[in-house]
Amino acid sequence: MMTNVRTKDRDSAISLNNAEFNFLCTFVYDSTGIVLNEGKREMLYRRLSRIIREKKLDSFSSYCRLLKKQPEQERDFFINAITTNLTSFFREQHHFDYISQHELPRIIKNGQANNKRLRIWSSASSTGEEPYSIAITLCEAMKAVMTQWDIKILATDIDSDVLAKGQSGIYELSRIEDIPMKFKKKYFQRGDRENSSNIKVSQVLQQLITFKHLNLLHEWPMKGPFDIIFCRNVIIYFDHKTQQELFARYYELLKPGGLLMLGHSENLGQYQQYFENVGRTIFRKPL
Ligand SMILES: C[S@@+](CC[C@H](N)C(=O)[O-])C[C@H]1O[C@@H](n2cnc3c(N)ncnc32)[C@H](O)[C@@H]1O
Repeated sequence: MMTNVRTKDRDSAISLNNAEFNFLCTFVYDSTGIVLNEGKREMLYRRLSRIIREKKLDSFSSYCRLLKKQPEQERDFFINAITTNLTSFFREQHHFDYISQHELPRIIKNGQANNKRLRIWSSASSTGEEPYSIAITLCEAMKAVMTQWDIKILATDIDSDVLAKGQSGIYELSRIEDIPMKFKKKYFQRGDRENSSNIKVSQVLQQLITFKHLNLLHEWPMKGPFDIIFCRNVIIYFDHKTQQELFARYYELLKPGGLLMLGHSENLGQYQQYFENVGRTIFRKPL
């Protein structure tokens, strides 16, 4: 059966037929690992018709032709349009509570005897709220010892637009309305005049974080080992095989005793047997 999508709110009715939809789903999968099904047809339509307009093309068929002709030139733009970047400061607060109440005291205690090196990876960092929340958590829980430690947070994502946003550290004021007042005062600065509806994160947080472009499906250049890896609300978009391959790779990059944090609706599947479940969607690689 041939299904065409037309949206009511669109001026020019561009249609997306099954062959084009299937080609685009395959292009998404090959580029990102993200699996799209029929239920995502409207989403795909909306996001890509924006590109079609921007590129002054007249149809999905001409856009598909362009992707076939020059996939490498078009891939980044395509990926940035297709990814879902929903995130927020201190999303899934229980992870940050666990880190400040249990993990950092343990790390600090062990670090006295070791090299005082702390490495954390936010592996699908989106616009940066996740790594900045990690940085605030560290600054608060490690206040007394921070200067003696070598601390680095790596923030990676496949989407170059969200990485640039994270790197800028500039957000709308409304993004921080739910965080405690003492954090707002300490770690964010309000813009003046025409920028008064924006805030900028402090230098203290920014210097802890390195933003880098990384497709989780490709080779990972970093060696680790990491004390904590955040892999939240990203593997949900992948198929089972890709998820299991990624868990094996996260496991390799974690220190023995290190933590893997997943998103609220994610689980390790068979890989659970290699980890200890120490909290809600918090998994420890055994020592
Ligand atoms: C919903 S956001 C999650 C953000 C954050 N981790 C959180 O939980 O709030 C998912 C992010 O995964 C990224 N992503 C999707 N596929 C990816 C891939 N193959 N490699 C790296 N990042 C990917 C998207 O660009 C998006 O920014």
